[in-house]
This record gives sequence, structure tokens and C-alpha cells, in this order.
Amino acid sequence: MAIVHRAVVDVLAAMPARLLWRFARRYVAGTALDEALRVVRDLNAQGVMATLDILGEQVGSPSEARAGGAAYGEALQAIRREGLLSNISVKPTHLGLKLAPDLCLAILRDLVREAHRLGNFVRLDMEDSTCTEETLRIYRTLVGEAPAVGVALQAYLKRSRADAARLAEGGANVRVCKGIYREAPAVAFQDRQMIRENFLALLEILLGAGCYVGIATHDPWLIQEARDLVARRQIPRDRHEFQMLLGVRSDLRAGLLTAGERVRVYVPFGENWRAYCLRRFRENPTLLRHVMRALFRRERPRPGP
Ligand code: FDA
Repeated sequence: MAIVHRAVVDVLAAMPARLLWRFARRYVAGTALDEALRVVRDLNAQGVMATLDILGEQVGSPSEARAGGAAYGEALQAIRREGLLSNISVKPTHLGLKLAPDLCLAILRDLVREAHRLGNFVRLDMEDSTCTEETLRIYRTLVGEAPAVGVALQAYLKRSRADAARLAEGGANVRVCKGIYREAPAVAFQDRQMIRENFLALLEILLGAGCYVGIATHDPWLIQEARDLVARRQIPRDRHEFQMLLGVRSDLRAGLLTAGERVRVYVPFGENWRAYCLRRFRENPTLLRHVMRALFRRERPRPGP
């Protein structure tokens, strides 16, 4: 990250929530489920599917983990009630992975069963590399009980090719992304092009084995390479979808839709939006311009504290 960019992120990180919201709101649907459902409805009307993410990670107590599970349960019910095209994305540490892995498994088991009953689907997000092994273990346990669950792999992790090969054997539903956490060179590629190449290698392994793959990127080069790969390997169109984040590159999203691709947008919402938005700021190459624009725009009232 360039020095100026890092400095801007540091300034934003030090801001009180009310001020930070000005810059964060493009990435987050709101703080309440109703606001997120409204965004999902709009996306669906444009022909875009969604995945709802309730913001939160690293909970501090079992009751917080259970509350996270209950909130996701409500989201599944609301999706069903409103007939929306959306599944849910869950960070295992939000449901207690680091606190009590067995509790996390139990909460996720209930959610996956409920999703299965409702004809829906639970995606396990992949967090930092200290969570990888346990998240994959939970995935393997749950998918053996009900097929309404999938997982994510990060192309920057050196272990991911081996993980992809193992997931491919079981015909898993996998999201492939580059990876967002800061990881040491011992475990993760640091070079941008190497990460891209590994991303494509993961797609080859998974798509080649007939897995359903969520291609999660806003990188135009990767999107084109992925589409070429699908065409070259004659992968049926219904075996993959492109996935993007709310507030990022809606122009690319529109282009993919016009080309007849399936597109899903990750719709985060909830009170705990700070850590998520700071990660988005770090990745935004036009952050400075975005900050300047937000400073001169009239503020919409921020919901919540
Ligand atoms: P890259 O960062 O190179 O961005 C490509 C282009 O997209 C940029 O040049 C810019 O134009 C635009 N862009 C990217 N980020 C932007 C931003 N914040 N603001 C404005 N423009 C931006 N990670 C993870 O570790 N575990 C996970 O489970 C997930 N899940 C996930 C789901 C979905 C649907 C997506 C799209 C992404 C994730 N990620 C993730 C995040 C992912 O690992 C990665 O960090 C981001 O997608 C950014 O990488 P890109 O491939 O988009 O390329």
C-alpha cells in the first residue's frame, strides 16, 4: 500500500463512528435486516442474486455467538418470506470459532439444517489463516449431514491448491477469492500476479472436477481469464457465478449481466461494520478521491450509534 493511501486509512481508522459512516456507507447496506432486504430486493430486480452477511467477527462470549446464529436464522426466514434470491455468508469467528469450536459447529449445524429445509444455502467465509483448518473441518462435517453448505478458498494461501483438490473430490460448492487478511510469506503468496495465477489454478481444479464455483473478484484481468477458462474447458454456464462486493465496481457487474453471466453481490449489514469497512478502504485504489467526494457530499443520517 502506498504511503499516502496508508495514511488516509489510518486517519479514517481513528475517526469516530458517526464520521466514518460517511465513507463506509457505500460498502454496507445499513445496520438493520430491513435495510439489507431492501438492497437485496433492488439487486434481484436488476437480475442480481445476493448473499447476506451479518457483520461481526471474533465474538467475546457464547451468548454473542448464539445471538449471531439467531440473527442469521431470522435472515433465512425473511429471505424465504419475501421470496428473495439470496443465501447467507457467515464468518465462523462470528459464531464462536475461536471461543468454542464445538459451539460454533452446533450453531452452524442448526443454520445449515434450516437453510436446507428452506431450500437455501450457507456459505462459510474464510477468515485469516489461523481459521483455515478448523473452518474446512467444520465444512466437511456439515456437508456430510446436509448439502446446503459451501466454503471459500483464498488464492493467496499456498495451501489452497491442496485444499481445492480435496474439496473437488467431494464435489464442493466453493467461492474462490484472492484473500484479504495480512498473511506471512511463509503461508501466503505476496506477489499480485502469483496470486492471480493461483486463483486460476484453483478454478481449473474445481471447475474441472464439476464443482459449482463462485468466482469472487473485481479484477477485470481475472474475470476475463476465468471466462476464457470456462469457454475453453466447455464448463456449463450453470456451474459457476461471479461474485462481487456491495459498493465495488458495479460497472463490471453490469457488463457481466449483459454477457449473460450469473452474478451475486455480497451484502453486508449490521452494527459491527467498522472492521469490514476498514478492510475495504485498504483495498480501494481510489480511496483518496472517494474520501474527498464524501467530504463534499451532504450527509445522509447514519443509522445507529
Ligand atoms: P483487486 O483488489 O485487485 O481489485 C480489482 C479492482 O476492483 C481494483 O482495481 C478496483 O477497481 C476495484 N476494487 C477492489 N476493492 C475495492 C474497494 N474496496 N473499493 C473500491 N474499488 C475496489 N476475502 C477473504 O479473505 N475471505 C472471504 O471469504 C472473502 N469473501 C469475498 C466474497 C466476495 C463476494 C468478494 C468479491 C470478495 C471476498 N473476499 C474475501 C475479498 C477478496 O479476498 C479480495 O480481498 C477482494 O475481492 C479484492 O480483490 P479483487 O480480486 O477484487 O482484486
